[in-house]
Order: sequence, then C-alpha cells, then structure tokens
Amino acid sequence: MIEDQASSLRKMNQSSLIKVIAVTGGKGGVGKTNITLNTAIAMAKQGKRVMVLDADLGLANVDVMLGLRVERNLSHVLSGECTLDDVLVTGPHGIKIAPATSGTQSMTELSPTEHAGLIRAFSELRSQIDVLIVDTAAGISDMVLSFSRASQDIMVVVCDEPTSLTDAYALIKILNREHGVFKFKIVANMVRDIREGQELFSKLSKVTGRFLDVALELVATVPFDENIRRAVRKQTAIVDAFPGSPAAVAISQLATRALNWPVPAQPGGHLEFFIEQLVTKQVVGEQR
Ligand SMILES: Nc1ncnc2c1ncn2[C@@H]1O[C@H](COP(=O)(O)OP(=O)(O)OP(=O)(O)O)[C@@H](O)[C@H]1O
Ligand SMILES: [Mg+2]
Repeated sequence: MIEDQASSLRKMNQSSLIKVIAVTGGKGGVGKTNITLNTAIAMAKQGKRVMVLDADLGLANVDVMLGLRVERNLSHVLSGECTLDDVLVTGPHGIKIAPATSGTQSMTELSPTEHAGLIRAFSELRSQIDVLIVDTAAGISDMVLSFSRASQDIMVVVCDEPTSLTDAYALIKILNREHGVFKFKIVANMVRDIREGQELFSKLSKVTGRFLDVALELVATVPFDENIRRAVRKQTAIVDAFPGSPAAVAISQLATRALNWPVPAQPGGHLEFFIEQLVTKQVVGEQR
C-alpha cells in the first residue's frame, strides 16, 4: 500500500505545473459557486484546462447550476468502484467537474485504502489539467478546512453584510491559528462599485490586522449584477451568457490575474502538495 502511494507520488513528479485554488467564504450564499464556475470558464476560454472540484454537494451545487447530471462522486473513486474519469462531468468550454463526497467527513479521516484511492485518483489528473479550483461549502467544517489549507491559493469571498465579514474572519482565524495558513486572497462580491469593494476589504483587514498575523490581498471586486441570476436561471454562466456585463468582466479579469499567480516551481506544481495535505493531519505553526 505504502509502496503504491509512493510510486503514484513519484509519477506525479513528472507532471506539468498545476495550480490549485480554493474558493471559500465562511458564510453561505456569498457567491462562492458562481465565482468558482465563472472563473473556471473564463480560464478555459483562455485556453487553460480547468477542473472544478465540487466540494459542496448541497442543493445549489455546480452541476445543478449548469444543468448537468451527476451520478457518482469521489467516494466511489476512493472505494475503488470506479476511476476519477468515470465521475468527471464535462461543462462549458470543456471544463471538468469532479463531484466530491457529500457530507462533512474530513479528508484526514480516510481509511488507508481511501488514501491510496485519493492519491491514485489525483495522480491520473496530472496530464489532464492546468488549474484545479475547489468550490467549498459554507461554514467551517473539517471538509472546508482541509480543502482550503491544502490549496495553494485561498480566495475568500465576502459581501457587504456583517455576518459575511464575521464568518470570513472566523474562517481566516481558524485557518491561520490552527492550520498555519498565512495568505488569503479576498474577493468582494455583490458590491455597488470598486470603492465599496475596497471599503469592505479595509473593514476585514482592520480586524485581521488587529488580532491575527495574516496577509490579505484584494484580488477582485465583483459588482452586484442581475445578469448572474439571469444566467443561473438559464443554467449557463454569466461569462458565457452575458460576457460584457459588469460581473462577467470583473470575474474574467480575476481569472486572468489568477493565472499569473506563481505556481511552486517543483514538478507537479501544487497538485502533489494538495494531495499530501488532504490526507495528512494538520500542520500547525508552519506558515505559508
Ligand atoms: N455578483 C452578484 N450579483 C448578483 N447576484 C449574485 C452575485 N453573486 C452571486 N449572486 C447570487 O447570490 C446567490 C448565491 O450565490 P452562490 O450560490 O454562488 O453562493 P454560494 O456562496 O456558493 O452559496 P452556498 O454557500 O449556498 O454554496 C445566487 O442566487 C447568485 O445568483
Ligand atoms: Mg455554493
């Protein structure tokens, strides 16, 4: 078993650089899934091979939003019932959607067989994708924390509601204090204009600056845009249905910017680290 895992990881070393980004936020309904999907599609439109890991198998999840049919998920891959390819669903512009497991089971509680399955599943990906974006559920469950801390970049989506800010703060605090995460990329969503986005960002930075040792960066200000809902109703993405609309333009810019975020120079990019982190118990104190 251990031999198998080691050889899978070694094989992954031969892969190209892969970027792994988690989209989270603490609070429900702040726009995580819309930001994830539209960023993924905007990257695909720029020629990147993108996979969305749907770590939130709730009601308004990725496949429902795009009107796709999902029959199996990562749990079937982990138990060896099928391969990762069998559960992948293809979305607009060829983006691949991997439905994760439902429920809140932490990835750190997998059995040794499931560990091996996870590593095998993701090592299959090494030649297939350039970017992996993980859409997390609301809240700060173990599942949300394990996917976030394992990702290279964490985008925290906030909107102008007191509970969004307090929930984002709670998430940042626990990722920082208990999981050693230090850098967070903030997306201000559903704002009236850039100024409102910057104000939201400064409110959040003020409290994190007072109580935590973290670095926040405002990476996008996405305006409130009725076209997001119109696109969702048509089961399409705004960057496809209304590419010139304000939110689509902002998210496309975010996608371009995110593609320029550096990827660790080791072969395999961030994918190997992602998998190792998912299956290992937390690393406190090691800042990144
Ligand atoms: N920029 C925006 N302008 C207008 N409406 C938006 C915007 N972003 C998201 N919405 C709307 O907000 C609602 C919540 O969006 P979404 O499902 O993406 O949030 P979420 O954070 O993934 O929610 P959950 O926590 O339930 O997974 C949807 O109805 C969506 O259409
Ligand atoms: Mg969602």
